[in-house]
Amino acid sequence: MKRSFIREILESIDSETISFAGGLPDESLFPIEDLKRASQKAFENPKNLQYTISNGITPLREKIADFYNKEGFETKASNILITTGSQQGLYIIAKYFQNQKILVEEPSYIGAVNIFKMNNLDMKSVPLHYDGIDMERFDKVFKKIKLAYLIPDFQNPKGSLYSDEKRAEVAKSVSKHGGYILEDAPYSELYFEKKAKSISALIPENSFHLGSFSKTLSPSLRIGWIRANEEMIKRFTMIKETIDLHSCGIAQHILNNYLEEHTRYEKHLKSLRDAYKLKMEFFTKALKNHLSDFQFEQPKGGMFVFGSLSGVDSFDLVQQCMKEKVVYVPANQFYLDGRMSDEIRFNFTYSSEQEVVDGLKRIERVYRGAEA
Ligand SMILES: Cc1ncc(COP(=O)(O)O)c(C=O)c1O
Repeated sequence: MKRSFIREILESIDSETISFAGGLPDESLFPIEDLKRASQKAFENPKNLQYTISNGITPLREKIADFYNKEGFETKASNILITTGSQQGLYIIAKYFQNQKILVEEPSYIGAVNIFKMNNLDMKSVPLHYDGIDMERFDKVFKKIKLAYLIPDFQNPKGSLYSDEKRAEVAKSVSKHGGYILEDAPYSELYFEKKAKSISALIPENSFHLGSFSKTLSPSLRIGWIRANEEMIKRFTMIKETIDLHSCGIAQHILNNYLEEHTRYEKHLKSLRDAYKLKMEFFTKALKNHLSDFQFEQPKGGMFVFGSLSGVDSFDLVQQCMKEKVVYVPANQFYLDGRMSDEIRFNFTYSSEQEVVDGLKRIERVYRGAEA
């Protein structure tokens, strides 16, 4: 198993390097004052620093359940398991299904692929397009293996968004064949136009829906969740207990206090979407100015622009870019066979406008040099 190239990059870069590599939120948009107040309150009660229940504190699970209820996806607190980031949610589910087969989109999220390898899950990949997975292949593969890992909203790395038709088709295929989908949705709130309906809402008994506060509030809190039927939540809770007894209690209390005033989070999400839309527009305009050969689809949300520099080995190119102090993630990292790829994933949320221009100019220089 190879370590994630992204984590290696994050560890090795110095302060002069401009990074378009990580899926990092913009630090200037963290709601620091509100989180400070929520923390202050959380520390007033010593009980909040005590051990707590494994599935997560009840008022926070109720609030998360309400996110779903508001969208017409009936959910109780008992359908929610709080996890240490959605990364742990993925690990718990993979542990439950260890040694079985799983369908994955190609390309897919490296962090999940590594978890599946660690738990000896045999991955079968199905190509992903900008409007969702290849349905003909999906149906054929899912029929046999009955477990699929999907990121329908602003996928990592592709930035793609499943169309409503594809969502309905996936749900229909799962209803027909039985089995489960793991719907990983950390970017679902970061839409620029309108929120798409989750596939899980169409097949509540055949889905595990994973959510996270990492991309919307702060990844450092390490709070995510799994939404599933009560029976599966009980089984997943038993696995979680063997890993960490429970997710950080004080972080759960901070979040719960923050969410107490419910319009606050809604307002924050709205301003985040507006700010990220502007950042995406700036980044894609700068791409057209400085790397005009880069072919890409304009993202409709999320954190990534994905595309290709025709005929260029993007892994080779990034090694040279690193010397010029700029990094991105070459797409060979996202394919199971590590094939040569001319595709690149850029993160557009983290860097400032000046860094975007400087960074893309550095890439342009390396690319023009490689071309000559
Ligand atoms: C698709 C996807 N799933 C899960 C995660 C893990 O997120 P967290 O554990 O911070 O909630 C990430 C992080 O980048 C991701 O991109």
